[in-house]
Amino acid sequence: MIDDASGDRSLVVVSNREPYVHEYADGEPTVERPAGGLVSALDGVVTETGGTWVAWGSGDADFDPAVAPDGEIELPPGAADSTAADDPPGYTLSRVDLPRRLVENYYYGYSNQVLWPICHLEADPVTVDPEFAPAYREANRLFADHVVAADPDVVWFQDYHLALAPGYVREERPDARLVQFWHVPWPTPEFFEICPQAVELLRGLLGNDAVGFHLERYAANFRDCVAQFVPDAAVMESGEVRYDGRTVETYASPIGVDADRVAENARSDAARHYWDRVVDRYDLDPNRSVVLGVDRLDYTKGIVERLDALAHLLETNPDLAGEFTYVQKGTRTREGIPAYRRYYDEVRDRIAELDRVHGTADWTPAVYIEDDVDDRELAGLYRNADVAVVSSRRDGMNLVAKEFVAAQGRPFPNAGLAQARGLGTPTRDRVPGALVLSQFVGAAESLCPAALSVNPYDVSTFAGTIREALAMGENERRDRMDSLRSSVREADIDAWLATQLDVLAADERAAPANDD
Ligand code: G6P
Repeated sequence: MIDDASGDRSLVVVSNREPYVHEYADGEPTVERPAGGLVSALDGVVTETGGTWVAWGSGDADFDPAVAPDGEIELPPGAADSTAADDPPGYTLSRVDLPRRLVENYYYGYSNQVLWPICHLEADPVTVDPEFAPAYREANRLFADHVVAADPDVVWFQDYHLALAPGYVREERPDARLVQFWHVPWPTPEFFEICPQAVELLRGLLGNDAVGFHLERYAANFRDCVAQFVPDAAVMESGEVRYDGRTVETYASPIGVDADRVAENARSDAARHYWDRVVDRYDLDPNRSVVLGVDRLDYTKGIVERLDALAHLLETNPDLAGEFTYVQKGTRTREGIPAYRRYYDEVRDRIAELDRVHGTADWTPAVYIEDDVDDRELAGLYRNADVAVVSSRRDGMNLVAKEFVAAQGRPFPNAGLAQARGLGTPTRDRVPGALVLSQFVGAAESLCPAALSVNPYDVSTFAGTIREALAMGENERRDRMDSLRSSVREADIDAWLATQLDVLAADERAAPANDD
């Protein structure tokens, strides 16, 4: 329930990904909770407020014979560890059963080969297939049907998979409060009009009462698109849009991370043990600096540009040979899409080439890790990096940068690294890592200039910036990290959630606008 002046109202959260994936492994039911701060933050909210979460049921369709594949499952608080039926319910997970054809054309197709590249200003990977748009409509209809069936007062849509669903829900529920958060950038009108369904998508989103973005400039781009492509909508000075007799608010609210939790994870034994294992497995020399990249293997992440910069760095700075190891933590993603499969191969090839050209008998310049790590293990990587590089070509926010900062935490003895270096448990604080950050990610707005800003396309300057980060002295690292830490703490996940809950709970802001 969402509290507001008029009493409790029931909440429905809608996202493409589900918070719990139930499957059978060797006949035993298993539940997997996708790692990542956003899902657990939303899970916390819905567990507390109660209500329904509508999402694509991507696990085993026949998970529970008592639950229809397209049906509902009651989730107790803490359901990640429990499939017990007798725990008290926290909320209802209402799973949308998408047939294979829709997974192909709505998820791999329209969402990730049309909308994803367009929002990230990447024209080349855009693939317009005649099957995609109808499947996107059909899937959004299914999500909308589940929402309407849950009889909501307030609906909170997440992201670009669901641009049409608000319009469909609005047809059925003119009275409900609908809010959407768009987690990726919103492009300029010149770029957005590549999308053949540009106007239809905008009208769908204008079914909401409020549409949120990470940055004001994404919200401004959205309003520019509305002004240019939806003739019957009026964009007001206030940032509101008058459309279809209603007022649609647009707002900016940068998402953050759970800084305390990441810091705690970074201090955990699991983090230390994982890092020790990495040191052992790759025979990392404690006298060498660690440069870290953590990415989904997505072309928007600028991994190839980063590897080019590292190659350039080694070509032009022979004195750096043997001075650092680049650790790439990769997560395979969206492999049903040719561009992603090619990107995976390209990243692996570049790493192999870097090692072949620059490696020596006792030095491997770059290692690639594909372990399925949990949050604590990931924090162990962050914690032990001397330099982290986030070099996205475009990114709505980028939480890797913020997690890296949070994992530096308050200074504490870095027992893992120190032991690996044969130093025993140190008594003095660990020197924090330095962050190299693309100017094209949303996080740059709050983290630069404390983070070293780079243009990932400018390979030689990028290489110089990595060199600068490696050479950065202790005092400068501490000063910069203090400043980064306050930015990350100030705009953390709780601050973001508080804003969203305010927007969700807002009264029917104004009397419905006149049609004039
Ligand atoms: C981005 C999107 C999310 C998406 C995530 C992982 O962060 O904004 O909506 O869930 O990538 O991608 P996937 O396609 O695996 O859900």
